[in-house]
Amino acid sequence: MNIAFAIERIKAHIKQYITECKNEQVTQLCTHLSYGKMLRSKLLLAISGMSEEALRVCAFIEMIQSASLLHDDVIDEAMTRRGKDSINATFGNKNAIMLGDVLYSKAFYELSTLDVRLAQSVSAAVVRLSVGEIEDVSLSQSFHTHKERYIRMCADKTAALIVAAAECGAILKGLNKHIYRIYGENLGIAFQIVDDVLDITQDASTLGKPAMSDFKEGKTTLPYMYLYECLDANEQAQLLSYFGISLNAEQAMWIRLQMQKHNIITRSINEAKMYANKAREAIQNEGNDKLQAILAQMIERTF
Ligand code: FPP
Ligand code: MG
Repeated sequence: MNIAFAIERIKAHIKQYITECKNEQVTQLCTHLSYGKMLRSKLLLAISGMSEEALRVCAFIEMIQSASLLHDDVIDEAMTRRGKDSINATFGNKNAIMLGDVLYSKAFYELSTLDVRLAQSVSAAVVRLSVGEIEDVSLSQSFHTHKERYIRMCADKTAALIVAAAECGAILKGLNKHIYRIYGENLGIAFQIVDDVLDITQDASTLGKPAMSDFKEGKTTLPYMYLYECLDANEQAQLLSYFGISLNAEQAMWIRLQMQKHNIITRSINEAKMYANKAREAIQNEGNDKLQAILAQMIERTF
């Protein structure tokens, strides 16, 4: 079975689980969801190999990922997701939150019928996701330069479910799950740093959401921390005055020019590469070329 076919099978499983919820409104709302790159599924399958059980676990992880993004868009008041109006924008916060709860609970119910270690891995990840999101909200109250806290937040908010996908793959295949957890943790942190960079370097049509939305949402990502440290006092004040507001073209251009002048994008990508290398080291003796390729694609991606 090739990966494209596997992805279609996962989507078909998700559709089936949604139908089993036996509610027309839920089914309707779910037609407005899109599934993005499905990195977690590709990673799980690259470790476990293809099996019906693996495809089902992928479906559960994607449903939980969708649930977390439904909640996240409410929290961030985001109006777009993957190039479309977000569910909260079109159907309101209440529907978005409850749809997230339906997807999350259904996925967990189904997961609980499989090897208990899979459910334990995913539930531990959801605790970390939620803790990470709380920390994200807390850090977004004001501009900051707490790099270590920021990386820990990324590890929880973004890497945790990637860790669970890697761990579930290892459990299904009977491999040493600790090795794959380390791989997933570092891949996930690198993934988030690349995301932070793309928010600055890419345009809205490529991103499927407004460009430079992180700073507007009050998120001091790594590039902004690095930039702040390189600016003089006047420039620092100018940068701070742009925090949490909708930037006009001139203000956005000023930030991008400063980033260019101080080599911030390269520095941030190097930081992502450092985490990617840690991930690579963890799996170097596992003989799995697909995991090397996933790392390379993740660093080089443009959206
Ligand atoms: C996106 O971050 C958000 C996450 C990766 C995780 C969000 C997690 C929760 C809301 C907790 C979920 C809990 C349950 C029970 C499912 P972002 O805002 O930086 O990225 P974005 O630009 O894609 O929105
Ligand atoms: Mg968000």
